[in-house]
Order: sequence, then C-alpha cells, then structure tokens
Amino acid sequence: MGVRLIVALFLLMLFAACAQPQEEQKKPASPVEYGRALFADPSLGTTGKSCITCHPDPSALSGVGDRYNPEAYFNMAKREMTLKEVINFCIEVPMKGKPLPENDERLLALEAYLRSL
Ligand code: HEC
Repeated sequence: MGVRLIVALFLLMLFAACAQPQEEQKKPASPVEYGRALFADPSLGTTGKSCITCHPDPSALSGVGDRYNPEAYFNMAKREMTLKEVINFCIEVPMKGKPLPENDERLLALEAYLRSL
C-alpha cells in the first residue's frame, strides 16, 4: 500500500468520525421541535412562503388539534378534513407545494407541533 493511500484512508476515517456528531446535532430534539422548525420552512412550498407567513401568531391555531379530531369542516376546502389533510391542503394550495405522504415524518412533526399549541 502506498503512503498516499494510507493517508487517504486515514482522512476518510477521520471525516466519517467527525461527520457523525454533526448529523446528530442537526436532528431535532422531538417531533414538536421539528414541527416548529418546519412551520417556518419555505421549502415545503414553492412560493417562498412558510406556514408562519400566513399564521404569524401560532397561538391563534391553539385548539386545532382537538377540533380536527378526527375531522372538522374546513372552510377553504369546503369539506370535512383531518388535521393532516388541512396541513397538506395549506402546503398544496396556498404554498403550491407537494402534499406530504400520510406517514412522512415532516407531516407527523407538523401535526405534533399544531397539537402542542
Ligand atoms: C398563503 C397563506 C397560508 C399559508 C402559507 C399557510 N396557510 Fe394555513 N391557512 C390559511 C388560511 C387562509 C386558512 C383559513 C383561515 C384560517 O383558519 O386562518 C388556513 C387554515 C389553516 C388551519 C386551520 C385553522 C382552523 O382554525 O381551522 C391550519 C391547521 C393551518 N392553516 C395550518 C397551516 C400549516 C401547517 C401551514 C404550513 C405547512 C400553513 N397553514 C400554511 C393560509 C395559509
């Protein structure tokens, strides 16, 4: 084995060892914390808007978890919806984004956050 290969392998291992804790640091503490971050994340849509653009005072959404349980009439969609469907409606229609799959961890986190309000 050439010295350069050994050095390269060593650097690779060092990089892998360093990369690990950084990944963990980025990982949110809980679904609620992750949901709080996503609430301000414009990358869920394509209009540059995030949830917080239109819902600047999240405490105004307090109680939505109980109301959409399991479903309630949602004015904007003109039909009964679950809380997950309301979240996806806001992602798809006003934010022009792609609705999240039923068990997507971002959807679960946003739901957990709204239920915590
Ligand atoms: C461009 C504006 C806009 C954006 C962005 C937006 N919403 Fe909405 N949202 C509305 C409007 C308008 C309503 C209906 C009126 C209301 O209840 O405030 C609504 C209603 C809701 C409701 C139901 C409130 C209720 O009392 O029935 C929830 C929950 C909600 N939005 C969550 C979200 C989440 C989560 C996001 C981000 C993924 C988001 N919204 C992004 C405009 C927006």
